[in-house]
Amino acid sequence: MSAPPARRTSGFGTSIFTEISALAVAHDAVNLGQGFPDFPAPAFIKEAAMRAIREDRNQYAPAAGLPRLRAALAARWQHLHGVTVDPNTEITVASGATELLHDAVLALVEPGDEVIVFEPTYDAYVPDIIMAGGVARHVALRAPLWRWDPAELRRAFTPRTRAVILNTPHNPTGKVFAREELEELAALCREHDVVVISDEVYSELTYDGTAHVPIATLPGMRERTISIDSMGKTFSVTGWKVGWAIAPETLTLPLRAIHQFVTFTNSVPFQEALSDGLELADTHGYYDELRATYAARRERLTRVLKEAGLAPLSASGAYFLLCDTTAFGFADDVAFCRHLTTEVGVAAIPTSVFYADPKTAPPFARFCFAKRDETIDAAAARLKKLRPLH
Ligand SMILES: Cc1ncc(COP(=O)(O)O)c(C=O)c1O
Repeated sequence: MSAPPARRTSGFGTSIFTEISALAVAHDAVNLGQGFPDFPAPAFIKEAAMRAIREDRNQYAPAAGLPRLRAALAARWQHLHGVTVDPNTEITVASGATELLHDAVLALVEPGDEVIVFEPTYDAYVPDIIMAGGVARHVALRAPLWRWDPAELRRAFTPRTRAVILNTPHNPTGKVFAREELEELAALCREHDVVVISDEVYSELTYDGTAHVPIATLPGMRERTISIDSMGKTFSVTGWKVGWAIAPETLTLPLRAIHQFVTFTNSVPFQEALSDGLELADTHGYYDELRATYAARRERLTRVLKEAGLAPLSASGAYFLLCDTTAFGFADDVAFCRHLTTEVGVAAIPTSVFYADPKTAPPFARFCFAKRDETIDAAAARLKKLRPLH
């Protein structure tokens, strides 16, 4: 190729996720790095998808998503939060939360606009901001409780701030933001007339009675929030890529304007399956069971990591545990995770990759507990080999 690629691609590179996954395969490691379930999806949702294909629900859906899916999503939002949303004008279905985050940023951000993100930051946010020509402003969340410094948060708001990207429950920390914290952020967004893009893909995965609070449900926030969720984590089908955004019409219109030219629509059988799944999940008591089985997996992995001398921080949501690797004497978390994968046979993700400047990151390794008991037990057997470097 003679023409150079666009400069915006230059920082995107191959991620550590790809590197660790390749190392895990090469060394036959138990993979607790990858953030997706290794157990089967529920039968009722698989049956629903197969039924949709058999019944020839195989052609394009309307760009905003199947009407019956949007109605089911509106009913669930009403049931959970007591808030009425209009499925015709306030819900958009797209190819996973990943696409909706991209659409939302492109819909809002002009070149030079600033977008506040919290660090550690999920990997898609900053590239989305860069693709829109925007500038990311990082606000640190500090271990072990992953709180922001109120003064630093306030300073991050400038006349150029257009949006904040929030993620709760949070990847990689497992933090579920408390109502009071969200109130503090909401007050700043109202004061500075800023939109919140709220990534809530782990909304159904909270433990110990912790409540997930969508920031859109706080006073004065509905009109300035795009709430994004997806079926991947809730129904253990991360490969199906059906996500949705709930936003007032003023924000839905520009979001849909972008979506129609990014993917236009996504797979109809899986949209049908989600429509059925939302109905069936309630009658099966699915959500409580999901939380209970995940809480048990979290306990199991916590025990295993503690036995290996890796005391995990507490996590009340999502499906990750973070462990401080300092005591093992490696140069950093990347060196620790490479060693763990190649020499011990367990793959984990170094969390410095979630930081703009990895040198400022605490040296944590992220372990995923969306795994079968056998997988976690196999990791336990391997971890017996883990020793400090010196
Ligand atoms: C915080 C967060 N947002 C978005 C996504 C992607 O969601 P989807 O698969 O629906 O695109 C993930 C997946 O790991 C995630 O952890």
